[in-house]
Amino acid sequence: MKLEELCINSNKTIRDALIKIDNNAHGIVFVVDDYQLLGVISDGDIRRAIISGKSINTEVSDVYNKQCISLTHNASIEEIQSTLSERYKVIPLVDDNKKVVDFASIYRLHQTPVLEPLLGGNELEYVTDCVKTNWISSQGKYVLQFEEEVKKYTDSNYALAVSNGTVALHLALVSLGIGEGDEVIVPDITFGATLNAVILAGAKPVIVDVEKQTWNISTDLINKNITQNTKAIMPVHIYGVPCNMAEIMTIAEHHNLHVIEDCAEALGSSIDGKHVGTFGDIGTFSFFGNKVITCGEGGALIFRDVNAYNKAKILRDHGMTPGKRYWHDVVGFNYRLTNLQAAIGCAQFEQLEQFREKRKQIFSWYDKYLLNSKFFDKQFLSNDYESSYWLYTVLIKDKGLINRDELIVRLSKLGIDSRPIFYPMSQMPAFQECKTDLNGVSEHISASGISLPTSVYLTEDDVCKISNKVINCLGSAEDLKMVVQDG
Ligand SMILES: Cc1ncc(COP(=O)(O)O)c(C=O)c1O
Repeated sequence: MKLEELCINSNKTIRDALIKIDNNAHGIVFVVDDYQLLGVISDGDIRRAIISGKSINTEVSDVYNKQCISLTHNASIEEIQSTLSERYKVIPLVDDNKKVVDFASIYRLHQTPVLEPLLGGNELEYVTDCVKTNWISSQGKYVLQFEEEVKKYTDSNYALAVSNGTVALHLALVSLGIGEGDEVIVPDITFGATLNAVILAGAKPVIVDVEKQTWNISTDLINKNITQNTKAIMPVHIYGVPCNMAEIMTIAEHHNLHVIEDCAEALGSSIDGKHVGTFGDIGTFSFFGNKVITCGEGGALIFRDVNAYNKAKILRDHGMTPGKRYWHDVVGFNYRLTNLQAAIGCAQFEQLEQFREKRKQIFSWYDKYLLNSKFFDKQFLSNDYESSYWLYTVLIKDKGLINRDELIVRLSKLGIDSRPIFYPMSQMPAFQECKTDLNGVSEHISASGISLPTSVYLTEDDVCKISNKVINCLGSAEDLKMVVQDG
């Protein structure tokens, strides 16, 4: 829903307000003068006004409620969540001058969120089935079905469902016997979970810089940092763009190293038709709410080898020995996925191809509207590589008049949620003890990268408007005109 559908000028009639309320289905509109927030008017306020003798043509200014709750456009998720309630289902978000620039509702925290799931398929039906049949824990048909879907889709040998992408990485490391004293080579640009998993397994991450074009781990630096303690390479297919797996596997085979592919953002990414996650020993996926498809929280591992699969399966289930319940030959974890989560995942799998096509389209629209401008550089995707098209992310060139952080603030004032690219792992206090080999590339990428809204329900018109606002924030009216004409 657009902000305009929730705002009404105070000189309009209560009839006009009722029409807006009828269309927006939120039971309320924000009363404004040129987007300056004055108050709100609800269908209840209008009902009471009419009962007390007001005509349907009465001006909104006569009737509206001046007592209204609002938050600032940069309010935290916690603030917004704790303000929304059964009573306040939609809240205006205002800038420093009290102008309404965005809104939060019980459905979403911003007018244009950066990424949100679309639960438009059989999710409710399958979850209801779990509740009705009492199968809500980790035993149940949807878990097995979900594992089968992961295996089939990625064309892998074995698949295991787990609670999230982070424990998938941890389980992968432990199943391959990686731990105390071992080194694992990881990229400087990733989400912190990649390194957390290595450290929690007792091993040491060795952080190396990334390639300028692909933003993925540098194979030169992998080679340079192999020591007698190196046990594994953990490439991350960042934003869905596949790493150079041919070179990584050659290095791994030459030095007898394990390869764990972090495919959290890359379900559907492939090289020459071969899915990422199937090159190394183990590939891991995340099904968090913002991923390519979701279980709410969820993860999976795919395996080349049956031994690692069998070991991981036991470790996932408390270390219990198969065929002998409540007997532990090894110390394990409870990393299981519930049937409820798997039910959502199965329904999402049914829509995966449709989502993929839509994301690809959204990427092409952004390319069309943004890359014509002089402001952006894009992540390179080789011709024989397919991306998952997870999250549209670009680098701002130096020519922009404002920097990335300022752009994020300005977009937020326009109701557009965005996010910075991941910060370099090497810069964080949590990872200060790690060995590093850096050359400034990740620092540059991280300082200038921004991710833009990529939810699958966006239309070309939405992407065009977002792009124009982005360019307008960054540059002059000249540049904006240029893009609009080209578009
Ligand atoms: C690259 C990467 N690795 C690991 C994870 C962890 O996945 P999860 O959030 O499901 O634990 C994420 C995502 O959040 C990620 O982006």
